[in-house]
Amino acid sequence: MAHRTVATIVLFVGSACCLLLGARAESAQPAGSQPYKPVASVRGLMTGQGLLFKQLQAAVDGPKAADRAMTVQLTAEALAELANVNTYNSDKEDYRGWASQLRETAMELAAEAKKKASADDARMKQLFARIEAACQACHDAYQ
Ligand code: HEC
Repeated sequence: MAHRTVATIVLFVGSACCLLLGARAESAQPAGSQPYKPVASVRGLMTGQGLLFKQLQAAVDGPKAADRAMTVQLTAEALAELANVNTYNSDKEDYRGWASQLRETAMELAAEAKKKASADDARMKQLFARIEAACQACHDAYQ
């Protein structure tokens, strides 16, 4: 009887641990870490977004230099990551929606640029315009 009780407890604790580990894996948090918390002020983060935006614009509009596609790709990825952080800066659904929209569009632009020589120039310009619209929409409401 005592053995069965112990076995039941072991089973119970075992499955509780599995559940916990499963939940951890799902939220993509490294084991033992706290939920993500930005360290910068929104204004500081926006300073970064502003600089990246200018660099991206110069690359998208610029001449087809050998390193242009890579500059567009990596700058768009950096901007997408800042937008990703920015989704943690507010509980408001519309705010988070615009930050997510910026993140997704910037990643689409990065993917297009990654095609290098076969990247579609018109599509890159179109995606850049959508990025600008996402900045504008959020600023109209929150800046
Ligand atoms: C989801 C909302 C949101 C999006 C999207 C967004 N911003 Fe902002 N932005 C803000 C807010 C809020 C402020 C005001 C921050 C403050 O002054 O505390 C701001 C301010 C700024 C500022 C002024 C910083 C200063 O020194 O006062 C710049 C530059 C800026 N954003 C650039 C951008 C660019 C470029 C994009 C798009 C690539 C963008 N932002 C997208 C919310 C957003």
